Amino acid sequence: MTEIFNAQGILKTFPGVKALEDVSVSLTRGSIHALLGENGAGKSTLIKVMTGVYRPDGGTMMLDGAEYEPQNTHDAIVKGIGVVHQERNLIPRFSIAENIFLEHLADQPLRRIDYPKLFQDAQRWLDLLEIDADPATPVDRLSVAKMQLVEIAKALSLNSKILMLDEPTASLTPHETDTLFGILRRLRDDGASLVFVSHKLEEVQEICDSVTVLRDGQNACESRRLDELGRQDIVRLMIGRSEMIPDWVARDRAEGQPVLELSNVSTKLGHKAVDLKVHKGEIVGLYGLVGAGRSELAKAVLGKFEITDGEVLVNGISAKINSVADAVGRYRIGYVSEDRKSEGLVLIHSVLENVGIPIWRRLSQFGGFLTNGTVRKHTVPFIQKLEVRTPSLEQQVGNLSGGNQQKISVAKWLAAEAQVLIIDEPSVGIDIKTKAYLHELIRELSDTGTAILLITSDMPEMIALADRIVVMNEYAVMGGFNNTRDYTEMSEGIMGLIQGDETAAA
Ligand SMILES: Nc1ncnc2c1ncn2[C@@H]1O[C@H](COP(=O)(O)OP(=O)(O)OP(=O)(O)O)[C@@H](O)[C@H]1O
Ligand SMILES: [Mg+2]
Repeated sequence: MTEIFNAQGILKTFPGVKALEDVSVSLTRGSIHALLGENGAGKSTLIKVMTGVYRPDGGTMMLDGAEYEPQNTHDAIVKGIGVVHQERNLIPRFSIAENIFLEHLADQPLRRIDYPKLFQDAQRWLDLLEIDADPATPVDRLSVAKMQLVEIAKALSLNSKILMLDEPTASLTPHETDTLFGILRRLRDDGASLVFVSHKLEEVQEICDSVTVLRDGQNACESRRLDELGRQDIVRLMIGRSEMIPDWVARDRAEGQPVLELSNVSTKLGHKAVDLKVHKGEIVGLYGLVGAGRSELAKAVLGKFEITDGEVLVNGISAKINSVADAVGRYRIGYVSEDRKSEGLVLIHSVLENVGIPIWRRLSQFGGFLTNGTVRKHTVPFIQKLEVRTPSLEQQVGNLSGGNQQKISVAKWLAAEAQVLIIDEPSVGIDIKTKAYLHELIRELSDTGTAILLITSDMPEMIALADRIVVMNEYAVMGGFNNTRDYTEMSEGIMGLIQGDETAAA
C-alpha cells in the first residue's frame, strides 16, 4: 500500500496545554485509519493541524510526496484534504443545499447561483446518504442527526483524496451509521484515504484497517494494523489499563408515590396517551429507535412542546411547566439535553460559570448570595469525578475538547441536586473510561434518592443502568419491564416490543 500522507514530530501548544507533542501519523491510499484516544488526548487538534485550522508549532507534514503546509482551511481543501469537524460548522439559516456546496460557492463569488441546479445536485447527496429532507430546508430546522449527515454530505461533495471524519457517527442511529459505512467503504475501495474518529470501538473494529492512538497528546501507537489488535489491546493503549465492567445487581425501586408521572399525555407532536412513572431513587430507561419520540417527550414535559391532553404530575400534584428554567426552579427537574452542542453550554463562559448555572438558579431562589466558593463546593467533586481535563476552572468551555465539553454539561446537572433528572444520551462523545465513571455517578445519584429518566439508544448502557425499561415506538409507549440485567433476554424483550409483539413483555 502506498503512503499518501505523513506527519512527523507535530507539536501544538495552547496557553497552559501541550495538546500535541512529537506526534506522528502515516496514511495510505485505499484505507480507513482510526484515530483514537481519550477525551482531550489531541485527536481533534491533530485533525485541525492537518486541515489548516491551526499552524503547528513544530514538525513536518508530507502530502503526495511534497511538503505540505496548509495556510488556511481553504488551502487544505484545494490540496485534497476534506474534513467533518467534531463541532458543528453549518450556517443555521442557510438551506441544506447552500450548506453542502458552501466551499464550491465560495470559489465563484461573482457568479449568480443557479438554485434549481443547486437543489438538484444537493438532492443526489441527500439520496446517497438517505436523508429524507428537502434541499431547500434551512438546516436549523433539522434534527441533530440530519445536521450531522448534511455536514458529511458537504465533506463528501469535495471529492477529497483524504477525508477526515471527527466523530461523524456520534449522533447517528445504527441504520444511518450503516449507510455511512457503506459509502466510506466505497470511497476506500476507490483509493481514498480516510481518517475516522469515534469512541465506539465496535464501529472502529468494523470499518477501520489501521490505527493511531494518542494519549495525553503523544503517540501511544502509530499507524498499526488493526487486525493485530484486540479490543482490550486498544483500550490499554488508550487508557493504560484494561476496561472495567461494573457488576451491578438488579434493583426494584418502583414503589410509593412516583416523583414524576405522565398520565395519559398526548402532545401536539403526536404522542398518544403516554403513561410513565419514575419513582424516588429509580432509574427508568426509555428505549426506542431514533425518531420514536423520546427526546420530544422529554421536551414536552419541560414545556417546549404543547401537551394537548393528560397531565404531568410531580410528587402527585399536577405541574404546569413552561420552560427548562421553570422545571429546575419550581419543580427541581434537571435536564441534560441530547443536543449539547447547541443547548447545553455557554461556550465563552468559564468551566466554573457553566457548571454553576443550575445551582445558581436553585440557590438564588432562597435569596442566597452565590460566591465562587459556594459554586466550587457544589461542583468541583463532579468535575473531578468525571476527570474534566482543563488547565483551570477559569478556562473558557469553548477551548475544551469536545468530550470534555460534554462532561461539563452533564456535570452541571449532576451538581444541581434535582429531585428528577432527565438525561438524554449522556455518553455520546465520552470516552469509555469516563463513561464508566459517569455510570457510577448516575447510580450514586439514584442511591441518594434522585429519580432518573434515562433516554439512551445505547443498549448496553440501558441494560447496565436502568431498573426498569420502558420502550417507545412511534410516539407511544409499547410497554415496559424490570431489568434483569440479562443482556440477551432484555435485548430480545426490547426488540419484541418495538415490533409490537406483546408477549415479549416479561
Ligand atoms: N483552542 C484551544 N484553546 C485552548 N486549549 C485547547 C484548544 N483546543 C484544544 N485545546 C486543548 O487541547 C487538548 C486536546 O484537545 P482535543 O480537542 O484535540 O482533544 P480530543 O482528543 O479531540 O478529545 P475529545 O474526544 O474530547 O473530542 C485538550 O486539553 C483541550 O482542552
Ligand atoms: Mg475531539
